[in-house]
Amino acid sequence: PGRVRIHHLQQAKDQGARFAMLTAYDQYAAQVFDEAGIEVLLVGDSAANNVLGHATTLPITLDEMILFSRAVSRATTRALVVADLPFGSYEVSPQQAVESSVRLLKEGLVHAVKMEGGADYADTVRALVRAGIPVMAHIGFTPQSEHALGGYRVQGRGDASRRIVDDAVALADAGAFCVLMEMVPAETADAVDAAVRVPTVGIGAGAGTTGQVLVWQDMAGLRGGRQATFVKQYADLRTVLSDAARAYADEVRAGTFPGPEHTF
Ligand code: KIV
Ligand code: NA
Repeated sequence: PGRVRIHHLQQAKDQGARFAMLTAYDQYAAQVFDEAGIEVLLVGDSAANNVLGHATTLPITLDEMILFSRAVSRATTRALVVADLPFGSYEVSPQQAVESSVRLLKEGLVHAVKMEGGADYADTVRALVRAGIPVMAHIGFTPQSEHALGGYRVQGRGDASRRIVDDAVALADAGAFCVLMEMVPAETADAVDAAVRVPTVGIGAGAGTTGQVLVWQDMAGLRGGRQATFVKQYADLRTVLSDAARAYADEVRAGTFPGPEHTF
C-alpha cells in the first residue's frame, strides 16, 4: 500500500471508518508501527517527557523536534508523519509558525504539523495552509499551556463545551485538515465531530472521533508508574526489557555469555 495521505483520513471520516495514530520518536518504534499499519505517526513534543526526561513538554526545542522527526520520517514508508510545533516556535506570529513549520518539513522530513491552540490561532492555520503545509489542530487540554490551565484537567465540561466546538469550527474553517482533542468529555468530542467536516482524533475524548492517539510508551507499557484514565496498556514492555537485562547480566556474571556460538 502507498503512503497514507490527508485525503485518506478525510475518506475515513466520510465513510464512517476509523484510523489509528501513535507517537514515535525514533527509528525502530517508527518502523514497527509503520509495518503494523498505524496510519499516522506523531512526533510529539511529548518526546520532552518520554525521551528527554523533562517534567513537561515545554522545554523541548525546535532543533530537538527536527532530530526526532528525521529519524521517524526516514524509518517509515507508509504512515503519514506529523510533528508537533513545540512551545515557543509558533505563538509570536503566523510568520514564526510558517518558518518553524518549514524547518519541520524541510529538515525533519515530516508531512504535516500539529499546533496547540484554539480559535485565536485561526490566522496562523491560514498562513500555514497558504504555505502548503497541512496542519492538525490540537484543542481541549493543551499540555503546552498546563501552567495557564492549572495542570492536567479535563476541558470543555458543561458550558465550556460550546467554546471547544467554536474553536474546532474556527480552525477547520481556517483549513486545518484534522482536529485533535485531548481530555474532553465524550459528549463534547462528539459535538465537535458533528460540527466539522474534517476528521477528528481523540485522546481521552471517548470513542466517537475518527481516530485515536496514544503515546507509544504508555500503550506498550514501557513507561511504568500510574497511567492516566484514558490510557490502555496493550503490552508490558517494561517487564520484558527488565527481564532481558537481568538475564543478560546474570549470564555475564556467571560466565555463560558469550557462549562458543558467539565467539570468533
Ligand atoms: O505530544 C503528544 O504526545 C501529543 C498527544 C496528542 C499524544 O500531542
Ligand atoms: Na504534543
